[in-house]
Amino acid sequence: MSQIRSQVPAVHAQVYLNTGTAGPIPQSVHTAMVHSLESQLAEGRSTMDHFIKMGGVMAEIRATHAAMLGCEPGEIALTHNTTDGMNLVTLGVNWQPGDEAITTNLEHPGALFPLFAARERFGITIKMADVLNQPDEAAAVIERLITHRTKLISLSHVSFITGALLPVKEICEVAHRHGVLVLVDGAQSFGAVPVNVKELEVDFYAVPGQKWLCGPEGTGALYGSQAAISQVQITFAGYGTMDSYNMYGGLLPKGGVQKFEQGTVQPANLAGQLAACSWLTEDIGLDWAFSRIRHLAGAARELLAAVPRVKVLTPAEAAGLVTFQVSDVSADHVAKALLDQGIVIRTVPHPWSLRLATGFYNTEEELEQLAAALTPLVR
Ligand SMILES: Cc1ncc(COP(=O)(O)O)c(C=O)c1O
Repeated sequence: MSQIRSQVPAVHAQVYLNTGTAGPIPQSVHTAMVHSLESQLAEGRSTMDHFIKMGGVMAEIRATHAAMLGCEPGEIALTHNTTDGMNLVTLGVNWQPGDEAITTNLEHPGALFPLFAARERFGITIKMADVLNQPDEAAAVIERLITHRTKLISLSHVSFITGALLPVKEICEVAHRHGVLVLVDGAQSFGAVPVNVKELEVDFYAVPGQKWLCGPEGTGALYGSQAAISQVQITFAGYGTMDSYNMYGGLLPKGGVQKFEQGTVQPANLAGQLAACSWLTEDIGLDWAFSRIRHLAGAARELLAAVPRVKVLTPAEAAGLVTFQVSDVSADHVAKALLDQGIVIRTVPHPWSLRLATGFYNTEEELEQLAAALTPLVR
């Protein structure tokens, strides 16, 4: 563990229990990004060689993401963050006024705001499944909301609020029985729990680089199945979109999800994203990371449950987020008091609560430190 922790120096500067917001940057990601910037400084960034090299890096990132998500590299588009992927799909559906989308009351703005924008622009109706206290029942609750006007179900795999792991496979079975597309926000699942998009049978799955992958901000990816992609149109067209074009005739887009890729990206970000993939998959090992995250989340639940007046909201079926409330003390006050002691967690809304995240680089001692710091605060 000390060897792993030495590679993510930020975990020594604080008790880092907020990977759900952004993971600590590993040394190898920093090195790759600095190396890229130095090469841009020394060698420039405008030759054909440079662009061919970038194309190779992008192909490697798509391939690693495909391996992590259980799909083909051609089914991965590179994006700028989770929300980017959520927007690309949500706003690309062939909406007609009066069409319907379904989401849940466990969602982040990354899923909700693109739906709100679609409502403003296309006149759709958004139906919200109330699964706050019954995430396991999500498939049945959602099925009751489906009508012949439903075109999209947009929801997260792991709720950023309660940390609940939603039964995405069951939801997809229900959706597909009714011919509805499913878009999954994978911000809190990718790199935290095993994800196989083919087994889950999702149509689209959006992931970030900066959270459980520990990569740079400004990076992410979107899985889109070959079958579903033809049902979603391009919102942002750029040269990344095209297979070919004709000045007078128009654009022939790429056949798959890569039609959503647009234009220039920062090479240092790509270098960091690739280094993060390599660190997690080759140096750390995904299976070990998943089981460690799960183990620590379970330990956190137990420790918190033993603190008087603390109520854990996270259900047993969860990933690396643990959400709790302290009766009669405001969540903001608790978060601030913990921060003053060097313990970084965060507040979440709906319902207003506190949330910690257990990265594989965290330790049992850090969780005990958190529980011990809470005890005097709740008195
Ligand atoms: C569930 C969920 N979705 C989306 C986001 C937004 O992620 P990004 O900044 O990658 O768009 C977050 C980030 O906190 C999240 O927790």
